[in-house]
Amino acid sequence: MSAPESGQPDHTLRPKTLAEYVGQVRLKEKLSVYLKAARGRKEALDHTLLFGPPGLGKTTLAHIIAFELGVNVRVTSGPAIEKPGDLAAILTNSLEDGDVLFIDEIHRLGRVAEEHLYPAMEDFKLDIVLGQGPAARTIELPLPRFTLVGATTRPGLISAPMRSRFGIIEHLEYYTAEEIAQNLLRDARLLGFGLEEEAALEIGGRSRGTMRIAKRLLRRVRDYAEVAGESLIGLDRSHDALDKLGLDAAGLDDRDKKYLETLIHRFAGGPVGVDTLATAISEDALTLEDVYEPYLIQLGFIKRTPRGRVATAHAYDHLGLPVHDDGRLGMFN
Ligand code: ADE
Repeated sequence: MSAPESGQPDHTLRPKTLAEYVGQVRLKEKLSVYLKAARGRKEALDHTLLFGPPGLGKTTLAHIIAFELGVNVRVTSGPAIEKPGDLAAILTNSLEDGDVLFIDEIHRLGRVAEEHLYPAMEDFKLDIVLGQGPAARTIELPLPRFTLVGATTRPGLISAPMRSRFGIIEHLEYYTAEEIAQNLLRDARLLGFGLEEEAALEIGGRSRGTMRIAKRLLRRVRDYAEVAGESLIGLDRSHDALDKLGLDAAGLDDRDKKYLETLIHRFAGGPVGVDTLATAISEDALTLEDVYEPYLIQLGFIKRTPRGRVATAHAYDHLGLPVHDDGRLGMFN
């Protein structure tokens, strides 16, 4: 069997059903009830907003929702819908009753498109303006009763009117190493290569709780194993390959470490504003907020305070810096 394109997720590995979807236990419990009820009533599922850090499987879940409902899914994203016309094209051309419309990065939807979405979500109608100036007139187009599944990494940027139109709002959590390992073992089985359980756990523990990262690491570890002539990926091989990839025991990479070291050494552990910190490590503040910080916060390595970012004792400890009995952190002259 051929290997999936490096860097590209292999969509054939995507679980189709909720039962195959690993982890997110409480979310799955709730969702299975909502899906069953909607199926029982032969109605569309309520509009659903999924939020959480990138790479946790929001898109996968949207496909699962459609599969479980036995309907089609149309996929688009906030930045792809610039004008109300873009929205009109999607809503009127391709959707049927009960279908799922998945809008990824829904927080990036333009204001005007967003306002057109409100009546579409609420009353399943779309107001379209024909012509311009005094001759312009509005017509109302009826729409199928669809389910909007929106995904976002930044729920705070969803406006209150938008948010209030979702009947189901759910958060995705980081995965445990065991959950990730369970999924990697399944992937390896489907792709037809050998992966030992301890190796899967090792990769799982160094994947920042993120399924997408784990899948990418598995492909890289597999490369190392294959080049070494091994048909079964064991603990030593995965350990060694992950070290070569620059990941430490907590799964932090060079960029995360740069973040922590800059916060600690240049800004005395904080507090420092996110823009200043971003400039110091040549990143943009949004990337820090969306990509780096959620996991560092999850590990308890940093805190976001009103005065800026602060490194915690755990971060000092992780970098091998002193944590003193009196609570003071770092080295003193
Ligand atoms: N792919 C992405 N997220 C997943 C999950 N939670 N379980 C299985 N496969 C996934």
